Amino acid sequence: MSTPHLGVVGLGVMGRNLALNALDAGVAVAGTDLGDDAVTGFQDEAGGRALIATTDLDAFLDALPTPRNILVMVPAGKAVDAVLAGLAPKLSAGDLVIDGGNSYFKDTQRRHDEMEAQGLHFFGMGVSGGEEGARYGPSMMPGGPRGPYARVAPVLEGMAAEVDGDPCVAHLGAGASGHYVKMVHNGIEYGLMQLLAEAYDLLKRGGGLDNGRMGELFGQWNEGELRSYLVEITADILKHPYSVDVQPNEAPGDESPPEGMTGKYLLDYIKDTAAQKGTGKWTSQDAMDLGVPTPTIDAAVTSRYISALKSERVAASELLGTPAGRAPGDPDELAGLMGDALLAAFLVTYAQGFALLKRASDAYEFGLDLETVARIWRGGCIIRADLLEVFREAFRADAELPNLLVAPAVADALIGHRDALRQSVVLASQAGIPTPALSASLDYLDAYRSAWLPANLVAAQRDYFGAHTFERIDEEGAFHVQWEPAGL
Ligand code: 6PG
Repeated sequence: MSTPHLGVVGLGVMGRNLALNALDAGVAVAGTDLGDDAVTGFQDEAGGRALIATTDLDAFLDALPTPRNILVMVPAGKAVDAVLAGLAPKLSAGDLVIDGGNSYFKDTQRRHDEMEAQGLHFFGMGVSGGEEGARYGPSMMPGGPRGPYARVAPVLEGMAAEVDGDPCVAHLGAGASGHYVKMVHNGIEYGLMQLLAEAYDLLKRGGGLDNGRMGELFGQWNEGELRSYLVEITADILKHPYSVDVQPNEAPGDESPPEGMTGKYLLDYIKDTAAQKGTGKWTSQDAMDLGVPTPTIDAAVTSRYISALKSERVAASELLGTPAGRAPGDPDELAGLMGDALLAAFLVTYAQGFALLKRASDAYEFGLDLETVARIWRGGCIIRADLLEVFREAFRADAELPNLLVAPAVADALIGHRDALRQSVVLASQAGIPTPALSASLDYLDAYRSAWLPANLVAAQRDYFGAHTFERIDEEGAFHVQWEPAGL
């Protein structure tokens, strides 16, 4: 069998690290970039192992055996279209181009259709795990035509993270399925990150715990059912001292640490404004389009927007008074229940993401297998967690599961932890600490398990002012009533 091969277009940090990862996996790699520095950087790190590293696209293509496998690692958006426009006329029938950026799935579908019309193959592939993951083992989510996958499977499997000897990569489905799955991965990522931030806030402002204590607590959670990459890094972040990394020219601006902050931890000096590149927002937008409730993810996206209103928040806090105070009760009890609350909210967040994937797979004819998605998210990616094994088993037992909340193991865990989630939301509310994602998770859980909801009144209101009709529980059909103004 010939050596597996891969061409990488775009040798920025992610492209270079993936290319080096492939080299380590015994793949023959060619690399190209428009910038001399990126090419030289890759060449130096590859230490002569690359087939070629060049700014010349023709030389790059000539170095690759046909049919070619080409991974494009350039920023999502116009740059991808520009690279494809440059590549397509020079490629041969059957060549495969893989876009490994965080592209919007509708762009991926369009590019897929255009490339296939030219006799070329195109995958949209989510790559998760950041720079470190790209270098030493990411989770990769390719989607597109199944045929050419067999050809690149040895390349991707050699590069991917492994869990129990199983690579965290698989062909996921048709068309833009790979980028769709990565988008939902990021939506879940937003939800989990916001939940962790709210737990931190509740413990900090509500319970008066210091960062060191919280770091220990998150570390303990990471040894139990909550074990996950995001809990682990949150523990590290909480404990990170102020003095180690901050150089004078990076020192915090004029802001002095808010009251109660010790100045001991770097986190206390980080401005409370979180940016976003769009994948979480896309998840919420498409969930709305498909009619799938994802309120925890929506709350996380909204929270980033609220965080960005820093100057407005500062002004409003002066006028309206800051709401946050201590939560009633013993801080140790709060600390004790927070881990259970997080577990329930994590379960709910993943459940929303998987429910969206299920609906999207039908709507866009992706042909996703949710057990496979859970399997390749067990390692390498940002939302990796022990819980993924539970979800994998749930979908293995029932591939048609409508929602993870009704998988027996998940239902058991929720029954055991939901009181803690409720208690955390009650305490937060009493303390005036905003917990939009914890609250949305609790509401979703309570609504999803409500056999009856007050939507009968909404249906009646619609009929009252718009003759939109309603259904009845005692008779088939659509009904309209001539509603009478009260008291007349
Ligand atoms: C990953 C991350 C990665 C990136 C996010 C950050 O899976 O490795 O999700 O893709 O860090 O795009 O997204 P925001 O900038 O929107 O937070």
